[in-house]
Amino acid sequence: MTGASRGIGRSIALKLAHDGAHVVLVARSQAGLASVAAEITTDGGSAECIACDLADGTAFGALVESVAEKCGRLDILVNNAGITKDGLAMRMSDEDFDAVINVNLKSVFVGCRAALRPMMRARFGRIINIGSISGITGNAGQANYSAAKAALIGLSKTLAKEMGAKSITCNVVAPGFIETDMTEALGERIKEQIIPSIPLRRLGKPEDIAAAVAFLASEDAGYLTGQVIVVDGGLSC
Ligand code: NAI
Repeated sequence: MTGASRGIGRSIALKLAHDGAHVVLVARSQAGLASVAAEITTDGGSAECIACDLADGTAFGALVESVAEKCGRLDILVNNAGITKDGLAMRMSDEDFDAVINVNLKSVFVGCRAALRPMMRARFGRIINIGSISGITGNAGQANYSAAKAALIGLSKTLAKEMGAKSITCNVVAPGFIETDMTEALGERIKEQIIPSIPLRRLGKPEDIAAAVAFLASEDAGYLTGQVIVVDGGLSC
């Protein structure tokens, strides 16, 4: 699973490991991953860490293939890593647009493509891509991010259709505002303004997203594919 060093990814990794999966933790540097692996081990779970920059699609594809080969199987792929480079569209540089598309969309495609062969062999697979409500509603200042997250939905629905006959499911979990480093950058004043518009009157916690991912990864979710599960406290309802 990608982006496992902190925030939502850390919570998903802890939950999947707690539920019995051997979790391969991927992020840019080993440093953050080691502490998550230690938490998993303390909880009695099993994990390993691999540093990889997802901006390098070739490296990530090779990583997924090597993990599947080494472990002899690849049951679950969670594409969670994501970045923002916000700015109004009229002032957004090509570099900032491409960087976000590369990490938030292209790497997901590359990872899914590499995962499909081992999953097809096993006639089982669970792919869970972390989107965003910005990909459903759009968000001022996030042309690059919203475009990537919207495209993730099209990609996931397509994979669901292509792979359903092999019992491989592919779904998107679309978080609203979740308390992580990514939203910390918004500042307290903005957060206070957002909370009254959320029916459940709080920002989400990374654990709220992890619970949805764990369900989609479970045997119980075997008849659920090509869907977008929005976990936003009702913000977009
Ligand atoms: P975060 O910024 O706290 O953590 C991002 C993770 O992705 C880190 O582990 C980081 O190392 C990894 N990462 C980033 N770029 C990478 C790269 N080039 N190569 C490898 N790893 C890389 O983010 P957060 O908040 O935990 O978000 C996780 C996912 O949830 C993202 O896809 C984000 O777009 C999505 N999301 C988050 C929301 C929020 O409110 N926090 C709302 C909606 C969606």
